[in-house]
Amino acid sequence: MSNELKDKHGTTGHEWDGIEELNTPLPRWWLWTFYATIVWGVIYTIAYPAWPLISQATPGLLGFSTRAQVEQDIAATVESNAAINDRLASVELTEIASDPELNQYAVSSGGAVFRTWCAQCHGSGAAGAKGYPNLLDDDWLWGGDIEAIHTTVTHGIRNEDDPEARYSEMPAFGRDELLDNTQIDQVVNYVMSLSGAPQNASRVEAGAQVFADNCASCHGEDATGDREQGAPDLTDAIWLYGGDYTTLTETVRNARFGVMPNWNTRLTEAQIRAVSAYVHQLGGGE
Ligand code: HEC
Ligand code: HEC
Repeated sequence: MSNELKDKHGTTGHEWDGIEELNTPLPRWWLWTFYATIVWGVIYTIAYPAWPLISQATPGLLGFSTRAQVEQDIAATVESNAAINDRLASVELTEIASDPELNQYAVSSGGAVFRTWCAQCHGSGAAGAKGYPNLLDDDWLWGGDIEAIHTTVTHGIRNEDDPEARYSEMPAFGRDELLDNTQIDQVVNYVMSLSGAPQNASRVEAGAQVFADNCASCHGEDATGDREQGAPDLTDAIWLYGGDYTTLTETVRNARFGVMPNWNTRLTEAQIRAVSAYVHQLGGGE
């Protein structure tokens, strides 16, 4: 060991096989910082929640909790939106779109409601899926003006929870033996002829008669549907379940009975109106 260092620092007096240990203490500033962190740590664990106990941590003298903080933040947001939510919940539905501030609030908060509550079935972009209607187009089962959408969302469709839910029931023509296989084949070919090519053109004429007798009461004589009953337009090549021969046969045989929950028990009136306004402005609103 160089004597220069030894002279400067001295040794601890330890020596192993001629190797001596220099006595170089930690710098003062470092040591004091270290002590300060210990003091800080002790104060912190007294002031804030810290030590885990069986069911909870020690609460800390300041009574701070991140959960309470979140609750406060939520309460603050609710409070700051209370006025506009009240207005949204009480104006005429048709006035929402003509009030720019209200409309903007409704559409953006409605988008959040949609992504939370509706996207599972209707898709995050609202384009729908088999059995779940596309909400982007102007092909409506039950109606596409803001009032019709609001009613649909409020009460839902064919659910058992809301007596005011929209309701209709297409008969299961095959299962309940209302039509035989030949008639079903005929009417399916007729339906296909309305928007595309029938599988077997020779059945179409007979199928038109089956349709007039059994289907026109709901789908309309011209098969363009009836919104009073949520009966789809069968001429537009837009399908809820599918327009190929197999799928159509399945629909006519067993019917479908699509169900949508009512939202009046889960969402506030302001949320229902917001999401209705959101759906209305997606492209197909009337
Ligand atoms: C559990 C699945 C499900 C959820 C969740 C759901 N829907 Fe639906 N929705 C359906 C089905 C199924 C239909 C079509 C029912 C039918 O055949 O008439 C439908 C139909 C609709 C219609 C009528 C479309 C038309 O053409 O008339 C609207 C509007 C609608 N939903 C909006 C919403 C909104 C807004 C939400 C969220 C608050 C939502 N839905 C959540 C299943 C769902
Ligand atoms: C009591 C009314 C009613 C009658 C009668 C009726 N339908 Fe329907 N139909 C509906 C409703 C409502 C739907 C919507 C689907 C659902 O129930 O979820 C529908 C759906 C359909 C669909 C599915 C369309 C799609 O986009 O996927 C086809 C196809 C169809 N009906 C054909 C027929 C044919 C063919 C007949 C006669 C043999 C018939 N319907 C008789 C009410 C009726």
